[in-house]
Amino acid sequence: MYISKFFKPHISDISPYIPGKMSENFIKLASNENNYGPSKKVIDAIKNKSGDVFRYPYKDELVREKISDYCNSSTGKNLTCKENIILGNGSDELIELLIKTFQSPYIGFYPSFVEYNRVSKIFNEIYYEIPLNDDFTFDCRKFTNNEKFERAKVVFLCSPNNPTGGIIERRDIEKILKFNKIVVVDEAYYEFSNLTSLDLTGEYENLIVIRTMAKAFGIAGLRIGYGIANKEIIKFLHKVKPPFNVNCLAQETALAALDDVDFMKRNVERIVKDREILGKILSKKFKVFDSRTNFLFADVFPYTAQEFFDKLYEKKIIARTFGKLEGFKGEYVRISVGTEEENKILIEVIENTF
Ligand SMILES: Cc1ncc(COP(=O)(O)O)c(C=O)c1O
Repeated sequence: MYISKFFKPHISDISPYIPGKMSENFIKLASNENNYGPSKKVIDAIKNKSGDVFRYPYKDELVREKISDYCNSSTGKNLTCKENIILGNGSDELIELLIKTFQSPYIGFYPSFVEYNRVSKIFNEIYYEIPLNDDFTFDCRKFTNNEKFERAKVVFLCSPNNPTGGIIERRDIEKILKFNKIVVVDEAYYEFSNLTSLDLTGEYENLIVIRTMAKAFGIAGLRIGYGIANKEIIKFLHKVKPPFNVNCLAQETALAALDDVDFMKRNVERIVKDREILGKILSKKFKVFDSRTNFLFADVFPYTAQEFFDKLYEKKIIARTFGKLEGFKGEYVRISVGTEEENKILIEVIENTF
């Protein structure tokens, strides 16, 4: 078609992001959602505030204030205020905002969250990937001792990492911060690991932490992410942020969810407990990697990832396949930890199927 000549050529080879499969009446364990769902306060907020949707969103500052309180309570230090926070339409949008704002090249490790690489490609920017060790642990020396790292201006560190579930040690994050590049630590799964670099934002002006309310708070569908950094970075990012990027119901529900942190914490506790149980059972059959998240990553060889997926799908359970990963041996799948009831069904299926 003649219209194709108008497309930007560098976009043609980019694959769209493929979300985890969803089928009605299936147990969905494909997207690291929190299947316990949101607090009742969130549901009430949607009901009570639905009449306000004729207005443009106007609670950005209030949400940022409340998030900074949440951050301060999690570090036990009075480090952040609303000027240290930026909101995103999910942390996905924050990744895009960072790539729009900061100079390339960028660097991260592999495998990690696909959006850093995909969004870089969309903006025709260079994103380097340094492989993790064979067991998916992070080797800081290998990461920093090479030309690509020297050239990179922004470093993306996903910790805990999606899809492998592992963490980057704090001492390694500090080593990387000392190279005076922009360092983005993606803490989407922070609440499940209880590990954060947030307190380092006071010390290192090159550190940006991004987080999401999609996972622990159980509001993935409402799309709320936030970034924390020093005031200068946050001010600059606001020049690029689309106006009204977080819609008014999302703002209301963020406030409501933050009013019920105890609800979130109870569910996170249940998920972490079940992750350990599930991990032990899965590791009787497969190689399962240590996870500090709400999911497990496993090598299901001698089955293929697709065979594993199909066998669960027959039992109305949806997992996520990664298949073969370039440079790594194995057949990889990722399974989110569901509710207690869902996990019991999953365990029964795994024990009786493989
Ligand atoms: C590491 C990581 N970062 C960011 C995101 C995006 O989260 P959000 O739903 O807030 O866009 C995800 C979602 O799966 C993720 O795993």
